[in-house]
Amino acid sequence: MEYSSSPRIEDFYFLRKTSGAMKNPRTKFNDVQFLEDGEGYLLPYLSSHVGPVDETRRKFIKGVIFGIGAVAAASVLDAVRGLQVPLAGGSSYVKMLLVDSSGAPIKASSITVNNPVIVLYEYPLVDEINFLFNLGDTSGNPIALASTSVTVPADGSKYTFPGGVGTHKSIVSYSAICQHLGCKPPNIHFYPPSYMKTGMPPPAFLPSSAITAAQSANAPGVIHCDCHGSTYDPYHGASVLTGPTQRPLPFTILTWDSTTDQLYATGSTGVPVYGHTNTLTGGQALTGSSTEVSNSTNPFP
Ligand code: FES
Repeated sequence: MEYSSSPRIEDFYFLRKTSGAMKNPRTKFNDVQFLEDGEGYLLPYLSSHVGPVDETRRKFIKGVIFGIGAVAAASVLDAVRGLQVPLAGGSSYVKMLLVDSSGAPIKASSITVNNPVIVLYEYPLVDEINFLFNLGDTSGNPIALASTSVTVPADGSKYTFPGGVGTHKSIVSYSAICQHLGCKPPNIHFYPPSYMKTGMPPPAFLPSSAITAAQSANAPGVIHCDCHGSTYDPYHGASVLTGPTQRPLPFTILTWDSTTDQLYATGSTGVPVYGHTNTLTGGQALTGSSTEVSNSTNPFP
């Protein structure tokens, strides 16, 4: 292998993201082109779909991927897609204040009800993104989200969704990484009540089966993944409404300080985040005492 010095932890993390991008139909990896052009195809692909490739990273990626490639060209792809990069992660959940880009604490009362804009933050690991919602009814009034039992269709097990926080108990947070094959926003996003209709152009496409399932579950809106159609009920613990996913979205525990109206991420419950056997391991632990909330995209035309 060309790579000989100690790899940086962020390079291992980059390799993990490479594996995810190759499996994502939205960032489709062209196997044929890779086998024909090798590095000439791989490096531009990584720069476009994963992140910047500096010289150290280029050597690391080349060393790993073309080291595997010495075995057999076709097995390179399966090997990279199946990479389980061992990273230290965290030993326990830390309490992190949710802040905006200027470092100012997010006030729970300032979060827009039924916001179609994708609002995200990292927790508990780097690049493990979470949705932040203030959920409401069809009239835009916040809904108190009650504690409920959530079933995991994959194995029939159950766990308790503890409900919402904030003045109206309407604020909730879930992993924003689809439990089917790991698609991320904007491919997976929230459909507020006003967007619960068919006939919208991609990426705001919502099939009638999702709407029917939501109505049966008394969910005014849904989280839907455009990659393969999985639908989750954010009003009831992000339980599964339609497959192919067989697992709900993990619930990220928020603690609300009623005196300051500030929000803290303090843990996770339910199934592990996609791609992990344990939500705290297999990634790079966040450091510090706050995590930044940012508005991503509004996926609706
Ligand atoms: S990744 Fe397949 S439905 Fe989301």
